[in-house]
Amino acid sequence: KKAEAWSARFSEPVSDLVKRYTASVFFDKRLAEVDIQGSLAHADMLAHQNIITAEDYAAIQKGMAQIKEEIAAGKFLWLLDLEDVHLNIEKRLTELVGDAGKRLHTGRSRNDQVATDIRLYLRGAIDDICGLLRELRLALLTLAEQHTDTILPGFTHMQVAQPITFGHHVLAYVEMFGRDTERMQDCRKRVNRLPLGAAALAGTTFPIDRHHVAATLGFDDVCRNSLDAVSDRDFAIEFCAAAALVMTHISRMSEELVIWMSPRVGFIDIADRFCTGSSIMPQKKNPDVPELARGKTGRVNGHLIALLTLMKGQPLAYNKDNQEDKEPLFDTVDTLTDTLRIFADMAGGITVKPEAMRAAALQGYATATDLADYLVKRGLPFRDAHEAVALAVRHCVDQSIDLSDMTLEQLKAFSPLVEADVFEVLTLEGSVAARDHIGGTAPRQVRLAIAYLREQLG
Ligand code: ARG
Repeated sequence: KKAEAWSARFSEPVSDLVKRYTASVFFDKRLAEVDIQGSLAHADMLAHQNIITAEDYAAIQKGMAQIKEEIAAGKFLWLLDLEDVHLNIEKRLTELVGDAGKRLHTGRSRNDQVATDIRLYLRGAIDDICGLLRELRLALLTLAEQHTDTILPGFTHMQVAQPITFGHHVLAYVEMFGRDTERMQDCRKRVNRLPLGAAALAGTTFPIDRHHVAATLGFDDVCRNSLDAVSDRDFAIEFCAAAALVMTHISRMSEELVIWMSPRVGFIDIADRFCTGSSIMPQKKNPDVPELARGKTGRVNGHLIALLTLMKGQPLAYNKDNQEDKEPLFDTVDTLTDTLRIFADMAGGITVKPEAMRAAALQGYATATDLADYLVKRGLPFRDAHEAVALAVRHCVDQSIDLSDMTLEQLKAFSPLVEADVFEVLTLEGSVAARDHIGGTAPRQVRLAIAYLREQLG
């Protein structure tokens, strides 16, 4: 009698602790669907190549159909003793269809099997994530559209810099999530290559047809070196890096939402369904969702480092270390997927308070640059204009007034080039409208950008 599921080679069973330590079934069972998909494609090829009979293939198909049903119905018995998802399914298949089940693993190893499974799984996850990124971008476009003319102060160093339009600010994130989508799609190209056929590490002695399997599974190509195929997880690392960047963008946006919702700032409100209260302070309404997203970014960054570290010390080819790739990868997918879904929804739950934004933009001399530009257009070198306006701002700070509160005579004291039309550039509307070029904050440009993005998003 065999001591363990995989081999008669062993003379004593592993301890329960070792069994639990080495098993992965409780987290890799989520690969069941793609594992079956991969096995069916492999069996189809084996039959095509006359490595197994058509009857065996039919039996495998039948058995796998039942296994799928059992899993879907929650009736499949996952056994720790059978280590991982692959052995669990293969064992059940053999119970159901006998020798045909035992022939499935011909010309294959769990090493190329698991690498294939992860790629199939990740390809699906990337497609879902790209769909969610699109939804988020559409939701942000809608928000931007409602606020092409809403003015708020733009900040650098968290100090009031220049007036901007809120729509323009929101579109900055639409750009970021657009590049994130490109990164995901680019990563997908390298995910979508077939490891099967590499077998354990060196290939197989059977007359397999790898291109046939690749075509069945929708892979663009086969991995062209068997050692590389089973041992590298760079595609998963690349995905985690792309995911970390998505989360980084989400986190920056979250930080802004939290600041904007603070009563001290009061630029926005977030719908109650995304916030929670305090168990002690009755007045509280906390922006939990953005705060948690900011926090979860750390966890996703951690997964990226975990995978990089997992890989760096491994000699070729497969090592069991690689079993540790799954939990970080799955958690990255889950965290990112949930976060994007919730943010796409939350974008529609943001109430903007234009008066508060406007009041803030009127403080802090946001139009000082406009005054300097005005003087330049009247012939003053920019550095001199900068200095003249700096003196004017200093005067206003001392007097606790705004630049636009000064009379024409007072302004002339800082530069004789100032005329009555100066007040047009000192207004918030004049300031934003003047930045009317591609990429600028003018409402006209924001509308053009929205139209362009809508067209791109289809
Ligand atoms: N559960 C393993 C993993 O996730 C499958 C491959 C195991 N291969 C082996 N020779 N032990 O990587």
